[in-house]
Amino acid sequence: MADGTRPGPLRVLVFGAALRAESSNARLASLAARMVADTGATVDLATMRDFDMPLYDGDVETAEGLPAGALALHRRMEESDALVISSPEYNASVPGVLKNAIDWVSRIRPQPFKTKQVLLMSASPSMVGGNRGLWSLRIPLEHLGTRVYPDMFSLARSYESFTEDGSLADSGLQQRLAETVTAFLRLVEADTRYVCLRRRWYEFLGDRTEAPVTQRAEDG
Ligand code: FNR
Repeated sequence: MADGTRPGPLRVLVFGAALRAESSNARLASLAARMVADTGATVDLATMRDFDMPLYDGDVETAEGLPAGALALHRRMEESDALVISSPEYNASVPGVLKNAIDWVSRIRPQPFKTKQVLLMSASPSMVGGNRGLWSLRIPLEHLGTRVYPDMFSLARSYESFTEDGSLADSGLQQRLAETVTAFLRLVEADTRYVCLRRRWYEFLGDRTEAPVTQRAEDG
């Protein structure tokens, strides 16, 4: 740090993007949260119920501003260095409850998703583990300038994949998830703590918050 103090631990918001009580994505999010905590980072483990909000309606936004659930998600995003989201796959795509939350929060300026580091995971009883939905989820997030981690973790046959203590029954999958989380957090630390570039190249056509639309990277 400029004043010589060591930066504090990374702060990571983790949540499953399903509402139901027995959500397997909530279980996967809880497991990932434990792994994040094992690296020494500070975890904020949320549930989608913490971010209850109505369907996006421009008239409601004009008349009342953003709903409390969207403001709560925004606040916890702002208080974190990174996000880990475990999302169900509905009809081979993003669940409406998650896309709706992204849409509401994306109305805030400066754009909360821009340059935010995100790791995506999914759990499904199917053999594909909900992976197709994650590819759909990347589109709005990357459009908004989010840095979506290249690796994604999808858990197939999710109803029979957890042990009593919430770990993965398959030790190989358990290890792969732990390695993915650790590698992601190394990138987050590099990106948020050791910003060697004074400015980073990004182009978000809707962005009006900082310098001109396209900033080119410059050596620090
Ligand atoms: C599903 N499910 C599902 N699963 C999948 O792998 N691919 C899919 O396209 C769908 N489509 C779908 C649509 C809707 C409306 C529902 C309710 C469910 C099944 C889904 O993976 C299963 O319900 C999981 O349990 C959802 O995740 P949680 O609730 O366990 O976190």
